[in-house]
Amino acid sequence: MLDKKLIFFGGKGGVGKTTLSSALSLLLSQRNRRTLLISTDPAHSLSDVFGLKPAKGTVKVNDRLEYLEIDPYEVIKEHIERALESIESFVSPETFSWIKEAFHNVEHTPGAEEAAVLERLSKVILENLDSFDHFVVDTAPTGHTLNMLRTVGRVGNWLEELLKRRREAGRFKEAGGLNPRDEKVLEILRERKERFARFSEILFSKRTLFVPVLIPEKLPIMETERLVAELKRLNLNLEYIFVNKVLPPETTDSFLLMRKEQERRYMKDIKEKFSHLRLIEVPMKERDVEGIDTLKEIATELGRRLGA
Ligand SMILES: Nc1ncnc2c1ncn2[C@@H]1O[C@H](COP(=O)(O)OP(=O)(O)OP(=O)(O)O)[C@@H](O)[C@H]1O
Ligand SMILES: [Mg+2]
Repeated sequence: MLDKKLIFFGGKGGVGKTTLSSALSLLLSQRNRRTLLISTDPAHSLSDVFGLKPAKGTVKVNDRLEYLEIDPYEVIKEHIERALESIESFVSPETFSWIKEAFHNVEHTPGAEEAAVLERLSKVILENLDSFDHFVVDTAPTGHTLNMLRTVGRVGNWLEELLKRRREAGRFKEAGGLNPRDEKVLEILRERKERFARFSEILFSKRTLFVPVLIPEKLPIMETERLVAELKRLNLNLEYIFVNKVLPPETTDSFLLMRKEQERRYMKDIKEKFSHLRLIEVPMKERDVEGIDTLKEIATELGRRLGA
């Protein structure tokens, strides 16, 4: 895992994506690797896990580990404000107030959030590519994340189409071609298209790893099957699967023995269904994983199991 530039953690709600992405990031930093942990889940919890104050920008955990919580609504708002600023000067006040309302409605259209997260994620990663050895991404529950990954291709095609139309529109204009404003728009579109192309190149390469996380229970297994199938269809690189909250083997308690028996069946199921992936088991702790000390314990467990 030490050779991967970009490591995504995905899976059903509550299975341990935040915990394990944080623990892995800590482990990498302990191995002298400069690591940036990024959360794309609007319901952020990295600050709770590390026991630090939430912040807008990056937060430093140690000399080699920082984390960043992307707020999609903040990104959408920034975009809208920038677009409105450039429009205000050349439309009437009535038209402007109509446009403003229309723009603010976009804030909540399906897909806007995922597109905004992707925009910020690609920017942060590409701008800091040389400053960090690893980018670990703690994603939102399955559906959101898959939508975001599907958006990569869609945004690329959409920008291509938009650029084509702009160029054609320019051709029909009187001699002199595009005016400076159109040129500027074209330039922004070109820059964005190029950025998405560069990001896609990393995303769909072997330098990127997508790690599904699940717990040994029926519904998470079913959801992970669908997630893995979709990630494969998208051509994303899968090598490992993390099974979290595995009960300790030594127990005499009758209730826990029954749970353990059920777990054994699900573990067998997981091994069969995901036999092409390397299975990493993470034990269930006595308590919730909060604060750097418990996180360090999980990081040590991960290090042992990964042989890192
Ligand atoms: N190995 C573990 N042992 C004990 N508790 C754990 C373990 N892993 C995670 N937890 C606890 O389970 C809860 C859910 O974990 P976490 O927040 O990491 O899941 P998540 O997949 O990120 O959830 P969400 O989908 O809501 O973002 C947390 O309270 C966490 O402390
Ligand atoms: Mg989480």
